[in-house]
Amino acid sequence: MKSSPFIYGNTVSSQSFTNREAEVKKLFQNLTGGINTMIISPRRWGKSSLVEKVISEINKKEKSYKTVIIDLFSVSSEEEFLETFAREIIKTSSTKWQDWMKSGKDFFKKLIPQIKIGIDPVTDFSISFDWKELKKHSDEILNLPETIAQKTGIKIIICLDEFQNLSSFEDYENFEKKMRAVWQRQKLVTYCLYGSKKHMMTEIFNNSSKPFYRFGDIMMLPRINRLKWIDFICKSFKENGKQIKESDAIVIPQLMKDHSWYVQQLAHYTWNLTEKTATKTEINTALMELINANSPLYQKEIESISNTQLNLLKAVLKGEKQFTSTAVMRNYQLGTPRNVSKNKTILINSDLIQEIDGVYEFVDPAFELWFRKQYFNQSYNINQ
Ligand SMILES: Nc1ncnc2c1ncn2[C@@H]1O[C@H](COP(=O)(O)OP(=O)(O)OP(=O)(O)O)[C@@H](O)[C@H]1O
Ligand SMILES: [Mg+2]
Repeated sequence: MKSSPFIYGNTVSSQSFTNREAEVKKLFQNLTGGINTMIISPRRWGKSSLVEKVISEINKKEKSYKTVIIDLFSVSSEEEFLETFAREIIKTSSTKWQDWMKSGKDFFKKLIPQIKIGIDPVTDFSISFDWKELKKHSDEILNLPETIAQKTGIKIIICLDEFQNLSSFEDYENFEKKMRAVWQRQKLVTYCLYGSKKHMMTEIFNNSSKPFYRFGDIMMLPRINRLKWIDFICKSFKENGKQIKESDAIVIPQLMKDHSWYVQQLAHYTWNLTEKTATKTEINTALMELINANSPLYQKEIESISNTQLNLLKAVLKGEKQFTSTAVMRNYQLGTPRNVSKNKTILINSDLIQEIDGVYEFVDPAFELWFRKQYFNQSYNINQ
């Protein structure tokens, strides 16, 4: 039997990538047109996948560009960031490691890099600096891509994933100003910045008092269109030797509110349960499995919030709009209006709820189903 065509957990830039034609086109044009772009969306809607897809297209079609994607997930200090940044940019600048060895002499004026190379230079190449010197001349690293671009006659596109991670650095505010000041002067380098913490990214890029305000174009990544999901699910089943009717396939994105990760996950579980033709019965069982698999995580979320925050979640689930009205505050035991406002911020900042057009909703559709069952005993069985 063929293995599942549905993928979650990894980015999906070639296999399993669907829709997003408009976003691919726009990001491609921006990045090759020198427009810095920030991508914002709730968790796991497909930012990293989109960037990987566009970068691989640029690599195929636009030979005058060098591209690099740097994941900042595990970078925890300014020093580590600067060293990672320098290393990745140098590796991008040439395919020959012999060139990397010369980069110290070629590209640095103030700093003296210590370059180390192992048996396999591609995976085992590191660069480090004297920390005091690095701190003093961090501009030189931040400007390294422009220096390299000028000297080698190439253009560079730099994508920084999990960008919000930088904001946990000590003295981030000064560093943020410095990054912005150096990067905005660069003519041959274009940046794409994105990350999984939506409220933090919004704070960095959409707050007029912050340095990165108006650094470039902000792309609010939308959900993938439901009809495209149905098409994708039916086609993937068919191409791999199984069947699902459109009228059944629609249930998958419906239940998961078109959330990219969860649509793939539910489709995957459904696929695994299906002998030949998937029906609502398989989808139902798959949904149960999906929620069971995720429930330890959901349980943990709940354990990390206070009682009044939990109550506020209940009010959100029930579609309440006026949280500070006397009736709602009393019905759900939300505490004082100050509690409500504080808790709302906490739930938003922990990416549990989001505001869309003035209405609050759960960010995570499967967590919502679990929560509904847990606290209101409403089952998530779909209609047969
Ligand atoms: N264009 C797409 N077509 C099909 N599935 C997709 C697409 N984009 C994303 N997905 C699904 O969503 C999952 C999450 O995608 P990805 O990691 O790119 O999202 P993200 O927004 O970067 O997530 P995070 O917020 O955690 O960084 C993928 O593993 C895949 O299952
Ligand atoms: Mg991501």
